[in-house]
Amino acid sequence: MRTRVAIIGAGPAGLLLSHLLDQEGIESVILENRSEEYVLGRIRAGVLESSSVELLGEVGLGDRIEAEGQPHRGIYLQWPQERHHLDFVDLVGRSVWIYGQTELTKDLMAARKSAGQQAFYEAAAVTLHDIETEHPYVTFIDAGGTPQRIDADVIAGCDGFHGPSRQAIPAAVQRIWERVYPYAWLGVLADVPPSTDELIYAWHPDGFALHSMRSETVSRLYLQVTPDDDIANWSDDRIWDALAARLGHGQDGWKLTPGPITDKSVLPMRSYVQTPMRHGNLFLAGDAAHIVPPTGAKGLNLAIADVSLLSTALVSLFRSRDSALADSYSDDALRRVWRCTHFSWWMTTMLHQGGDDFDAQLQLSQLRWVTSSEAGATGLAENYAGLPIGF
Ligand code: FAD
Ligand code: PHB
Repeated sequence: MRTRVAIIGAGPAGLLLSHLLDQEGIESVILENRSEEYVLGRIRAGVLESSSVELLGEVGLGDRIEAEGQPHRGIYLQWPQERHHLDFVDLVGRSVWIYGQTELTKDLMAARKSAGQQAFYEAAAVTLHDIETEHPYVTFIDAGGTPQRIDADVIAGCDGFHGPSRQAIPAAVQRIWERVYPYAWLGVLADVPPSTDELIYAWHPDGFALHSMRSETVSRLYLQVTPDDDIANWSDDRIWDALAARLGHGQDGWKLTPGPITDKSVLPMRSYVQTPMRHGNLFLAGDAAHIVPPTGAKGLNLAIADVSLLSTALVSLFRSRDSALADSYSDDALRRVWRCTHFSWWMTTMLHQGGDDFDAQLQLSQLRWVTSSEAGATGLAENYAGLPIGF
């Protein structure tokens, strides 16, 4: 088989890249090792920045976000006895949207199907070859057990942290920066209307908590736990009790309404950046090149920003044989990656308990500053609502 772009991974990065290329008449094939149902069922991110929503709207993917997503003007930041709203629209003129990654994945899969783009799900032993040459190719075993080979002009590694693409870059060329945090998130999905109109990020002596949502009837909530915590230690009652305490049930008459929990998982937290994001004819995008802790809601938005830059670079490479944007792709993408890496680290270290009393006082001082100073609040708002894609 031959295609222009062999895309490894059907997460948001791979699916959106394929759609952006299709809009420009460039053919691609996606290889994904999981089944379509598995990819659709994975519960992950929930916040889209304004520039992500604008981009999706420009390429015909805005209708359901508009109809079913929820625009939020800002977030609440709180600590015991205090809750403050930061209004991003007032501060920086931009909002964010609540729209689950599962919904975006559904939209992207539907768009690819209606465009007749090819995808191989349940592809095993996906292996990259000859990435340093003009004739890279990928081999794999398809769902029926048949060995396959796809030759391409370029390979896009959109296969997340555990995929083979980032490992295909020779060790002598790679550089890795990493921070593993001494805490994790216990995330739950619950069939109960959210107890808040916008997200609440809560600092608390027992640990961080976040009240998010997916719709008017589904809430998404998180608790800081230790990375080795066993989910079996967390009964539904214990989860709701901890959420009530940390989110301030009873404070100024606010109530957290519990409900049936439909999904529960523990997520480790790390920051990770691997450079370069391009080697020969392999380009990395999304979690394949970088991971951020979820506190700043940046992972999904970074994947979207990467493939926006990458599709523009590939269009220019294929249409006009102009390699300037492809050559600068890694540096261009990394500017935003490092900004979001810093913001996610900053939000994470401001809000989580690390067990040090001195740090706790610094955190509270920082929280008081970002909620009382317009300069402090504007910095948080500008980063959270999202910088322009080309930042
Ligand atoms: P992915 O979505 O990881 O997609 C990569 C794809 O490649 C997957 O479909 C995978 O199955 C496929 N793949 C892997 N290996 C192979 C292989 N060998 N061959 C072929 N295909 C392969 N971000 C937030 O902002 N907020 C959150 O609350 C949040 N929660 C998260 C929870 C979890 C459990 C995880 C893992 C991530 C979470 N994130 C969150 C991060 C966010 O979901 C990611 O940043 C986003 O999915 C990145 O998209 P991607 O397409 O780059 O990678
Ligand atoms: C979510 O809704 O899953 C979510 C929201 C905000 C975050 C992280 C996760 O910072």
